[in-house]
Amino acid sequence: MTLQSSALPTPASGSRQVPGAMPLVGHALQLQRRPLAFLRSLPQYGDLVEIRLGPRRAYVVCHPDLVRQVLTDAKTFDKGGPIYDKLRQLLGNGLGTSAREPHRRQRRMIQPVFHAEQIRQYVPAVHDEVVAATAGWSDGQVIDVAKHTYEIITRVLTRTMFTATSHDEAAAVISDALPLFHEGVGQRMNSPFAFLERVPTPGNRRYDAAKAQLHSLVDRIITDHRRIGTDHNDLLSLLMATRDGGTDGGTAGMTDEEIHEHVITFLVAGVPTSAAVLAWALYFLGQDAGLEARLHSEVDTVTDGGSPAWSQLHRLDLTTRTLTEVMRFYPPGWLLTRVAMQDTLLAGQHIPEGTVIVFSPYLIHHRPDLHPAPERFDPDRWLPERRQAMARDAYVPYGIGSRKCIGEVYGITELTLALAVIVRRWRLEPVPGANTHLTDPKPTAVIRPAPLMMRLRARKPS
Ligand code: HEM
Repeated sequence: MTLQSSALPTPASGSRQVPGAMPLVGHALQLQRRPLAFLRSLPQYGDLVEIRLGPRRAYVVCHPDLVRQVLTDAKTFDKGGPIYDKLRQLLGNGLGTSAREPHRRQRRMIQPVFHAEQIRQYVPAVHDEVVAATAGWSDGQVIDVAKHTYEIITRVLTRTMFTATSHDEAAAVISDALPLFHEGVGQRMNSPFAFLERVPTPGNRRYDAAKAQLHSLVDRIITDHRRIGTDHNDLLSLLMATRDGGTDGGTAGMTDEEIHEHVITFLVAGVPTSAAVLAWALYFLGQDAGLEARLHSEVDTVTDGGSPAWSQLHRLDLTTRTLTEVMRFYPPGWLLTRVAMQDTLLAGQHIPEGTVIVFSPYLIHHRPDLHPAPERFDPDRWLPERRQAMARDAYVPYGIGSRKCIGEVYGITELTLALAVIVRRWRLEPVPGANTHLTDPKPTAVIRPAPLMMRLRARKPS
């Protein structure tokens, strides 16, 4: 999404320390206890602010121009340092975690896998999976929407990634194991004591079992695919066919180990993010009867009671704007980092090699001078005339630069379809008193409304 050039003054020179650092822990407690409120408070101290995470100094970029500078200069600000070293141990060296050099080759090879033309072909399968995943819903039933959207998105990704395998079985394994794996990765990233991971506590055992389940499932699927040897036109077949230098022209393909790491990356990067967006969309619709009625009317009119087709998706304007606003309000990737690979200058401030730079789409999306009344959920702020006034890089839910989300088109396509398919048949009412924890959510790796209890109301007879 291209927005106008920045409406803010150019970033102020230098940096300021954020007050309130405590001995030993620095700002870690604020970040842990009320992370979103802490992030929203930072721009008042400057465009580049210094925080302390334990003994380490880190800088948070609060101005869109600085976000651009950091994210588009991967040579100076790479995915590195202790956080990514740890992530690579846990996830492997897939597209999301690799350093700049292997990443360039990987990205070149994987980009065609996510081509829009390819994603268009997945639309009927995505539709069928959402229908299947919601087939058991009944009028009046109370469901945990966060759990169900996780299952829906898992089914969708599994179906489009592994057509050859029994994707029902794969989806069931992944739905069970992925949340435990994801949670364990989050905890291990934050823990300074690696030896604790080997203590056989129930939590560690659950994590180890989930990790083993996921890895052996992915190994088995790759082996089956190789044995059958057919092109199934799914994400896995495309990964296997891609060559360095393009799908046709090049020579070297990927090893099974590389493919394995990318598949795990797609699961870890693609399921919790999209599932969170879909769940928040249903949450916000449940808060605003007027918006919900407008959305129902749009979906009914555009699809005329049938299955939404690829050619109709661009006409689902309010549906798309609602999802865009969800990703402004609660961008799933709310806190991301880079590391300075050499001494450098940022906003005139000397940044020593090895310094962690933090950027937060959430922070940028909640600056009132970039998004007026940022705490108001308002899909109409994305109407063309209002969008035009918006500053460049004021909306960065997918990041920018060479590490920008490769799943953007895939993600918005599956989400638009999934939301349309759900609201065509269902209204979801909040269960009074059950979701009070969501007025100030506490994010983990993603900002996720969990649990989210809502009552299903059938809109049309099945
Ligand atoms: C729809 C919601 C999604 C959001 C908001 C989102 C957000 C992001 C963000 C912010 C990044 C950049 C991280 C950084 O710069 O440090 C990223 C990277 C990535 N995302 Fe997504 N994502 C979404 C869906 C998906 C899906 C559906 C997939 C795959 C099926 C996916 C796969 C990836 C991968 C592989 C990367 C790493 C790209 C690279 O480093 O080259 N994402 N995502």
